[in-house]
Amino acid sequence: MARRFYVTTPIYYVNARPHLGHAYTTIVADTLNRFYRMCDFETFFLTGTDEHGEKIVLAARQEGLTPLAYVEKISGLFRGLWPELNIEYDYFIRTTDGDHIKVVRQVLQNIYDAGDIYFSEYEGAYCFGCERFYTERELVDGRCPDHKTIPEAIKESNYFFKMSKYQDWLIDHIESNPDFITPERYKNEVLAFLREPLDDLCISRPKTRLKWGITLPFDDAYVTYVWWDALLNYISALGYPDSENFKKFWPVVHHIVAKDILKPHGIYWPIMLKAAGLPLYRQLHVHGYWNVEESKMSKSLGNVVDPLELKSVYGTDAFRYFLLREMVFGLDSNFSEEALVQRINADLANDLGNLFSRSLTMVHKYFNGVVPEGKAEGESHLEHDLRSEALTAIEAYTEALGEFAFHRALMAVWEFINRINKYIDVTAPWELAKKKSQHGLLGVVLYNILEGLRVIAGLLYPIMPRASVVMQEHLGITAAQGFQTLASLKTWGTTQPGVTLPKTVTLFPRIDLKQMQPTGEGHERDVRGGPVPEEIPMETFQQVVLQVATVLDAEPVPRSKNLLKLQVDAGEPRTVVAGIARSYAPRDLIGKQVVLVANLKPVKLMGVLSQGMILAAGTDHGTCRLLTVDGPVEAGTRIK
Ligand code: MSP
Repeated sequence: MARRFYVTTPIYYVNARPHLGHAYTTIVADTLNRFYRMCDFETFFLTGTDEHGEKIVLAARQEGLTPLAYVEKISGLFRGLWPELNIEYDYFIRTTDGDHIKVVRQVLQNIYDAGDIYFSEYEGAYCFGCERFYTERELVDGRCPDHKTIPEAIKESNYFFKMSKYQDWLIDHIESNPDFITPERYKNEVLAFLREPLDDLCISRPKTRLKWGITLPFDDAYVTYVWWDALLNYISALGYPDSENFKKFWPVVHHIVAKDILKPHGIYWPIMLKAAGLPLYRQLHVHGYWNVEESKMSKSLGNVVDPLELKSVYGTDAFRYFLLREMVFGLDSNFSEEALVQRINADLANDLGNLFSRSLTMVHKYFNGVVPEGKAEGESHLEHDLRSEALTAIEAYTEALGEFAFHRALMAVWEFINRINKYIDVTAPWELAKKKSQHGLLGVVLYNILEGLRVIAGLLYPIMPRASVVMQEHLGITAAQGFQTLASLKTWGTTQPGVTLPKTVTLFPRIDLKQMQPTGEGHERDVRGGPVPEEIPMETFQQVVLQVATVLDAEPVPRSKNLLKLQVDAGEPRTVVAGIARSYAPRDLIGKQVVLVANLKPVKLMGVLSQGMILAAGTDHGTCRLLTVDGPVEAGTRIK
């Protein structure tokens, strides 16, 4: 069997900007794609945007744009985001592409000709949010289970797809292919659904109601249902029916989706493929939902997490690491910036970053940065153990990735990081360095540490590509030589003695949570309440310089929802970044006198250097009120 791998994400609706949830699925797909590439597979990675349907028409109308102009804009946001998150897809499909439209029409015609699509009058409960009819059974207390709205009664003639005909066949297929839908809980969910009689699927919308869609090839008074259009992207993107890519990659396709779209992928799609006479997908992998502060992300709650903002504050690698380490694939997870910072500090800055920099520093200190000879006399069981534990880590990691258990794969890497730290503690290179006679052994120890780091750098490539490349370059492995493959990681001893290594770098700077709080995104909630901090002596407080400052100008910080850049007069001009945009419009601030902490070390926030901090009181709603003075005061006046 050819070593090939084809991975897809859902194609995202363009009625909303990309958020954390979209980023997660796409990072998962990118990680797997990179992993299979490292295993020497020929791979194909597909993502894209879903651009037809009522939702899009409504969103375009709200922005005062034509559907076409609107989809151009939002699809562009998705395409612009992925490189920022170091996502390397092979193809970006848009359902408004001519080639895709052709495929949709062709498959519709084939299934129509085969007799699995029929025309009928239907009266039913239609949810405009979901763009589909609901049966009585599916409604919860008469309401749409997703939108919680009461669907409208609609009587319409439409085209229907004979899904019911395939119900028994699908049950049988899922039962005899237990890995068809994973994790198991979602397979069971689909089977539970299939225990009830399956209704035929309404696959058309009359143009009198919706024009923004693909016209049915056999009746141009109708467009096709958006899901029918969307699901076919997975084959149209490969150049179905005749292309080489279709032949090569369709048999090895893995779809990744979240639980929200289990039904279309677990039921409609396999039946569509069967009716079209096509082989089914290999596997459907379903993950849970990212919630924010235990609630679903939603525009109305104002808790939608923007991946670009996080990326620009914490870096792409740290963001990718956090998402994959924190979520157990299949279960829901809760997102919080505090948890992200804790992981960066503990796992990345401390465990990984310290090991890396202390090891390279030793090579520079004791061997002038030149990789020592690794096979000198004096090797002991310690080196053998380290080697075999590297293999154990590689195996555990590979097995976990095969099961989509990204968190377990990373735990295996971190176990090995701890293992190298222990090796350093036991061999104590700094003691060996004290005796000339031990120089050879010191070389052996450092060589083995470098080998361990090489394995770690290689294993981290799919998850943190940039950090992995930086690590590899610092270990003397260059792009020209070719970075590590999984096979090369299994061979201990490929680091070249005699190579001069670059000086060490800080892979992940520690983040000072306290320093972030006053102005950092989303930290207002930390300001309120909480335990009373330790008492401090008067002298400590007196070190803080507080001054009155007058706001001269204010503007939003690009790509941030909460940060404003203020120009203030504090007796001298200063630029201050403040996390107050949810509570104040820039124009309301001009002329206001505020309280400035004037002797804080400047920090960069979203790329803007902030020279101080302004004080505000946080409220229960995550909004804030600025501290100000009771009457006009000269700018720069010290507050005592
Ligand atoms: N357009 C359809 C998919 C068609 S695929 C043939 C669609 N689009 S969507 O924009 O709503 O994207 C849904 C997908 O986005 C989820 O299945 C998941 O991949 C991702 N996520 C959206 N919100 C999410 C979370 N809160 N958490 C995790 N992932 C989520 O449905």
